Amino acid sequence: MANSSPAFPRASGMEVLFSKTQIAERVREIGAQISADYEGKSIVLIGVLKGAAIFLSDLARAIEVNNTFDFVAVSSYGPAKMSSGIVKLIKDIDNPIEGKHVILVEDILDTGLTLSYLRGMMLQHKPASLKIATCLDKPARRLVPMDADYVGFQIPNQFVIGYGMDYAEQYRNLEDIRIFSDNTTQSVGFQKNRSRSSHSVEG
Ligand code: XMP
Ligand code: MG
Repeated sequence: MANSSPAFPRASGMEVLFSKTQIAERVREIGAQISADYEGKSIVLIGVLKGAAIFLSDLARAIEVNNTFDFVAVSSYGPAKMSSGIVKLIKDIDNPIEGKHVILVEDILDTGLTLSYLRGMMLQHKPASLKIATCLDKPARRLVPMDADYVGFQIPNQFVIGYGMDYAEQYRNLEDIRIFSDNTTQSVGFQKNRSRSSHSVEG
C-alpha cells in the first residue's frame, strides 16, 4: 500500500480537514451550480495535472450539462512547497478551445501564480468564456490577484494532502483531505524539509 511506506508518515495520524462525505457533498453543490450557470451549453473542463485529476473526475460527473475534459501540466522552478513565479507549460491541451466554454480545474489555489499563468495562456486560445474551479483556496498565501469562480473550501495556511494532493507524490489516493504532519512513529527516515530539485513538476 502506497501510504504505508516506512519512509512516509502514516496518513491515519494526520488531522482530517474535510471528510470524504463533506467533499462529495460540496462537489455535488458546485456541479449543480455549474449545471445551472451553463444550462444549454457544452463545457470543456481543463484539469491541471496531477493534483486536479481526482477533483475533475468527480466534478465532471456532478455536472449535468455536456462536458468534455482535457489536461495541462506545468513545471515550476524553486524548492518544494514554494512557487518561484516561473511557471512553464510542459503539457498543452490536446484539442482546440477557440469559441468553447472553458473551466480550468485546479486542486488548490495558493499563491495564484500557476492559475494566473494558465489563465493568460488559455485566453490566447480565444475561448468563448473562461472560468476557474478549484477544490481548495488558501487566500492567505496569494502573491498575485487571482480569484476562482467556483471554490470547494477555503482553508488556512496549512499544507494539505489527499483527494489528489500530494507530498512528494504520496497520499494522492486518500479519500479525505488532511493536514500534512510528520508527528508519527512512521517518520523514521523522512525529512520534512527535504529539497526538491530546482526544476520540479507541479502537481
Ligand atoms: P500556486 O502557488 O501557483 O500553486 O497557486 C498551486 C499549486 O501548488 C501546489 N500546492 C499544494 N499542493 N498541498 C499540495 O499537495 C498544498 O497544501 C499545496 N499548496 C499548494 C499545488 O500543486 C497547486 O496546484
Ligand atoms: Mg496542482
